[in-house]
Amino acid sequence: MEVIHTVAWMKQVARQARADNRLLGFVPTMGALHEGHISLVRQAQQQSSPVVVSIFVNPKQFGPSEDFKKYPRTFDADRAALEKLSVDYLFAPPAEEIYPSGFRTAVTVEGLGDRLEGRSRPGHFRGVTTVVLKLFEIVQPRFAYFGRKDAQQARLIRQMAADFELDTQVVVAPIVREPDGLALSSRNVYLKDGDRRAATALHRSLEAVRREIAAGERDAARLIVILRKVLDAEPGVVTDYAEIVDAETLEPVTILRRNCLVLVAAFVGGTRLIDNALVEADGDSFRVTL
Ligand code: PAJ
Repeated sequence: MEVIHTVAWMKQVARQARADNRLLGFVPTMGALHEGHISLVRQAQQQSSPVVVSIFVNPKQFGPSEDFKKYPRTFDADRAALEKLSVDYLFAPPAEEIYPSGFRTAVTVEGLGDRLEGRSRPGHFRGVTTVVLKLFEIVQPRFAYFGRKDAQQARLIRQMAADFELDTQVVVAPIVREPDGLALSSRNVYLKDGDRRAATALHRSLEAVRREIAAGERDAARLIVILRKVLDAEPGVVTDYAEIVDAETLEPVTILRRNCLVLVAAFVGGTRLIDNALVEADGDSFRVTL
């Protein structure tokens, strides 16, 4: 595995891959790698070559009171894990490479980024789409891999790729979970013992909704009551939002009809966690994937 720290060299490698007609696969991350990230790398390796993984803790996507400073940074372990997987390139630029002094441009996907995560984290998605477009320009991927764990992020990036006619196909991969259902996240290391148990409430709320949908419930308001009931029953959990939205528009739905997303965000002992389930219309029935 080659570790690349400069934009110039990464562009050179990407240009060469293009010239050789290779299908470059790209997995952008902020490091502190876990099995969720690793699953994206494995999927990339099945469909693409060479595979580039980036590690860049993007300051622009953290709010002023968020955890940029204390965000876990485990570069040596990350590099070793990627090396073991035989990843071709690790792109790990310092902040000055991505945001040299004088950098002034931002990318905003209108509408889709204002609700849900965007409402609780103003400016977050502007930071995400700005860095992802810049990374795409540098790495020139044919395929780029994102997790459904961050379903709204994936939806925005797919929109950005379509709007700008990018030559990058955005692939969205399933959520990897702990055996008790907790979605893997770099932020799970913040959870202390009691919080760790309480954190399963997010997954349990989605499971409860899955059961209700299987039993025939189609009314979004009633399903949201169930989400909240499970979340509120856990003393250590403070719900930020619990919503059911159309998978394309991210607008709230009243009755399940088309594909939608059931999304929850909650603070567990000061740590903000998110999770979601995908509800896919299949004739008259619905398939719910956690
Ligand atoms: P990060 O949180 O490091 O996540 C990198 C990728 O891993 C994202 O696509 C995310 O959805 C995916 N991921 C995280 N947890 C997962 C899980 N449990 N199962 C499956 N996939 C999972 O998301 C970001 O970084 C940043 O916003 C980034 C896109 C890199 C831009 O800075």
